[in-house]
Amino acid sequence: MPTESMILIRPEHLNHHGFLYGGRLLEWLDEHAYIGAMAHLKAEANLVTKGIDRVEFRHQVRDGTLLRVRSTLVHVGHTSLTTYTSFEKARDPLKIFRALVTFVALDEHGQPRPVEPLLLQPFSPSTDEEKRYWREVESARSRRSAAPGASGQKP
Ligand SMILES: CC(C)(COP(=O)(O)OP(=O)(O)OC[C@H]1O[C@@H](n2cnc3c(N)ncnc32)[C@H](O)[C@@H]1OP(=O)(O)O)[C@@H](O)C(=O)NCCC(=O)NCCS
Repeated sequence: MPTESMILIRPEHLNHHGFLYGGRLLEWLDEHAYIGAMAHLKAEANLVTKGIDRVEFRHQVRDGTLLRVRSTLVHVGHTSLTTYTSFEKARDPLKIFRALVTFVALDEHGQPRPVEPLLLQPFSPSTDEEKRYWREVESARSRRSAAPGASGQKP
């Protein structure tokens, strides 16, 4: 189940051009992606952010805008899980931002640990959206492991 919430853009969220400040959006992204991931995990899970696939601010957002934030778990790896998080204007189906955010589960020594035992229930992608982003995450994983400097090839 996706998590969903609303944000009201206020003057303190704006940059000197009068639009939503990108750094603020990234902070909300990290927080809402984390909430979306934690909704599937037992309370003792300890997650850190490992990666964000893409940062692209698509549209300007003005004071007084209502944003809808939706976060869906789309991939579970060995030590990692990934959510698809999107921001859109509530009164206008305009997606202003989207990202796949990957978290790594840590043990008590701050090292990656298997995430599967922390899940409230086993995950496998079922909706079209989950299947699409599962494939996107899998492609990114393949590209990373084929890239120079991937594990076993560190300088
Ligand atoms: C999280 C951390 C312990 C992972 O250590 P690491 O040696 O990079 O671990 P690994 O290379 O084994 O990768 C761990 C997982 O992350 C995934 N991963 C690695 N690089 C990634 C990237 N760029 N994007 C998405 N996922 C990535 C791997 O595929 C692996 O997933 P899997 O176990 O499900 O297959 C370490 O990178 C760290 O402490 N980073 C700082 C985290 C932080 O401070 N975040 C900000 C504050 S929350």
